Amino acid sequence: MNTKTERLQALQAEAMLGGGQARIDAQHAKGKLTARERLAVLLDEGSFQELDMLARHRSTRFGLEKQRPLGDGVVTGFGTIHGRTVCVFSQDFTVFGGSLSEVHAEKICKIMDHAVKIGAPVIGLNDSGGARIQEGVVSLGGYADIFLRNTMASGVVPQISVVLGPCAGGAVYSPALTDFIFMTKGTSYMFVTGPDVVKTVTHEEVTFEELGGADTHAERSGVAHFAIDNEVECLLAVRKMLTFLPMNNREKAPLRPTTDPWNRPNTRLNHIIPANPNQPYDIKDVIRDVVDEADFMEVHEGYATNIVVGFATLDGMPVGIVANQPASLAGVLDINSSIKGARFVRFCDAFNIPLVVFEDVPGFLPGTDQEWRGIIRHGAKLLYAFCEATVPKLTVITRKAYGGAYDVMNSKHIRGDFNVAWPTAEIAVMGAKGAVEILYRKDLDKAENKEQRYQELQDAYNEQFANPYEAAERGYIDAVILPEQTRTTLITALRTLRTKVDTNPWKKHGNIPL
Ligand code: HXC
Repeated sequence: MNTKTERLQALQAEAMLGGGQARIDAQHAKGKLTARERLAVLLDEGSFQELDMLARHRSTRFGLEKQRPLGDGVVTGFGTIHGRTVCVFSQDFTVFGGSLSEVHAEKICKIMDHAVKIGAPVIGLNDSGGARIQEGVVSLGGYADIFLRNTMASGVVPQISVVLGPCAGGAVYSPALTDFIFMTKGTSYMFVTGPDVVKTVTHEEVTFEELGGADTHAERSGVAHFAIDNEVECLLAVRKMLTFLPMNNREKAPLRPTTDPWNRPNTRLNHIIPANPNQPYDIKDVIRDVVDEADFMEVHEGYATNIVVGFATLDGMPVGIVANQPASLAGVLDINSSIKGARFVRFCDAFNIPLVVFEDVPGFLPGTDQEWRGIIRHGAKLLYAFCEATVPKLTVITRKAYGGAYDVMNSKHIRGDFNVAWPTAEIAVMGAKGAVEILYRKDLDKAENKEQRYQELQDAYNEQFANPYEAAERGYIDAVILPEQTRTTLITALRTLRTKVDTNPWKKHGNIPL
């Protein structure tokens, strides 16, 4: 072997070691993989092409000129997931704690620019002590360069952030600008200011985990979409999510092979709606029964559980599911569920993924807490998102579709393409109890047997309104179907809608009520 080859191999070997064996061992001791080991799990075997392996920082302050590790704390490049190209960056905590320098940021920006140019998703694996302190404002500028690219790439290519270690200060805003955030339990955290600063400013005592751990963000704040037990499972979940997504906003999501017959009847669903309309059932049982192979990848599972969102396929066609959940707060729409639903709807619309809605909603949640915190503004987000969406939009009303929530949940009036109801559907301005109290107050006051009269009036109201037939008569519902026909009916409609074309008027951008 000649010396030139040896020189290259020596450099490559040095780069592969990142911050050295001792720091790699320390990383493993914390239950964490290294930047390169993570990429090996994430990408198809042998598919990774690294860029800028030999980049070094240019800083000369604080003695940094004596310490110039190859790669500068981030591994970047492209590879494939299930044979399709993705662009990746993976921060290397063994090099200056994965901190972000000018060169580190340049490497991330380069791969993001490449992703937009070729139309491929960007997956960022975050594990970093934040801005490289020795580089000062230059590293802050590096973050801003990334934020700008996150924003420009939004809606152009899918962007996924995987947080596998610290992610603090302004650094959290890059993941926050992306489409989905995955976190690992016990080893990752995100916060704007850490527990020490919190204690100084607000006198609150809080642990890292409570303040910004995976469960906190997946259940309380809604910042994270997934909280997963360990890194390998987490990276495999990202691989799975990619199977539902197109590579960019000009493509449709690829068809997934399925052995589930398109005309399989949903016999079990004929009996899923309880006789008592106030009794809950689990909407996820409905979703799993309808979609291919019961394979539903739920997004934001632990947050705002009164709405369920996630990905599935129908006869191999990827769809985004949005469903009210009667088993949580009776499926009512509140601030958090509106925001959760709206963000998911907009993602699907941006990336040409048809929307399938399962509706059982008693209305918006009443009360001062919701009103004072702005349910009007936040509820409007979900309405806006459904209104502006131009992808194929299908709705199945399983039971309640009351009040404004009827309009919001992808009704025909806001460009629902195919809206069906089960015979158990109740479509009205409000439920019988409230309606009778408002309409017949005087009648009830005069009644000799008040309770009996109350019941008679409720029965009459239910007879007239607690069904899908008035809506069907007006064409607001395209068909009333038996629950067992749900899968077949949705697939038939989806097939015809694959060629759907719809557009919105030209605008710089709309003004969604933020
Ligand atoms: C330079 C850093 C660094 C940083 C860590 N290191 N953070 N070097 N700049 N920001 C180095 C450490 O000196 C150490 O080097 C190695 O990385 C590992 O760090 P440890 O502290 O030994 O690891 P650990 O105990 O696991 O603690 C990790 C940590 C802690 C919690 C992340 O290092 C930490 O608090 N770092 C500072 C975090 C921070 O305040 N960053 C600035 C945030 S503000 P050696 O050589 O000893 O191995 C910010 C603004 C972004 O990021 C603004 C965007 C708009």
